[in-house]
Amino acid sequence: MENSKLIALVSGAIKGIGRAISMKLIQEGFFVVLVDLDDISGKAMEAELHGQAIFYKCNIAEEPEVKKLFETVLNQYKQVDLLVNNAGIIKDNMIWNMPATDFDQVINVNLKGTWLMCKEVAVIMKQQNKGRIVNIASRAWLGNKGQSNYSASKAGIVGLTRVLALELGKYNVSVNAIAPGLIDTPLTQSLKKEVLDQLIQAQPGKNIGQPQDIANAVAFLGSYKTQFITGQTLYVDGGKSIGANMS
Ligand code: NAI
Repeated sequence: MENSKLIALVSGAIKGIGRAISMKLIQEGFFVVLVDLDDISGKAMEAELHGQAIFYKCNIAEEPEVKKLFETVLNQYKQVDLLVNNAGIIKDNMIWNMPATDFDQVINVNLKGTWLMCKEVAVIMKQQNKGRIVNIASRAWLGNKGQSNYSASKAGIVGLTRVLALELGKYNVSVNAIAPGLIDTPLTQSLKKEVLDQLIQAQPGKNIGQPQDIANAVAFLGSYKTQFITGQTLYVDGGKSIGANMS
């Protein structure tokens, strides 16, 4: 296939923030490869997007699946211009109540999965001598009670982003992270109402962000106008990282 469009690949693309990112990138003129776990919703989203996107089922935590994904995409589209590592999960608990298996699962999806995707795309982007990677971290990497597994995984993503900016810089690949704060998605909608209310009250603006807030930031960092910005973590959190609970 001859591409007139730039090709973007988005993980965790069928819900919440990933869905908003995918829609925004289509608006910006990308053809989007939607990557997620659920075949039925994925194919439905592909159909809804009428040839502007394609769905591939892939568990980003499984190396053989990730390798197969990139092999297929490269065969079909010959290039990957932008990778957005958005897929992520939570399994919250105070450390004394957290089974080690919950630590492993969160690290495996959020950090190892992101690393596996970056590893495969690095080879392609190095060869192309161009590319953009945007990793979705979280403001929680700064620390959140009950999220020792999640915060550690997202802190790992910030470190990974900085290293890849150094390793890929001379190949014209920029690598940045976005640290969302509280965003209204199925993930946060699954929290108990009183927990969600407390989180909203802790925001400087007593508010919750929308998936589009993150999608807009991804479109900026993923565009080819931002070559000189690399290795950075951009907070999109309504100011929570500045100082929560201060007034
Ligand atoms: P969500 O739970 O609404 O959607 C996540 C998507 O990722 C789902 O479609 C899910 O099927 C997919 N996914 C999960 N594990 C996967 C795997 N192993 N392989 C492929 N796909 C997988 O989550 P939400 O809220 O949209 O979050 C997206 C990202 O933003 C996550 O990395 C999350 O940690 C991060 N984030 C979210 C915040 C929020 O307030 N919602 C705040 C800060 C960061």
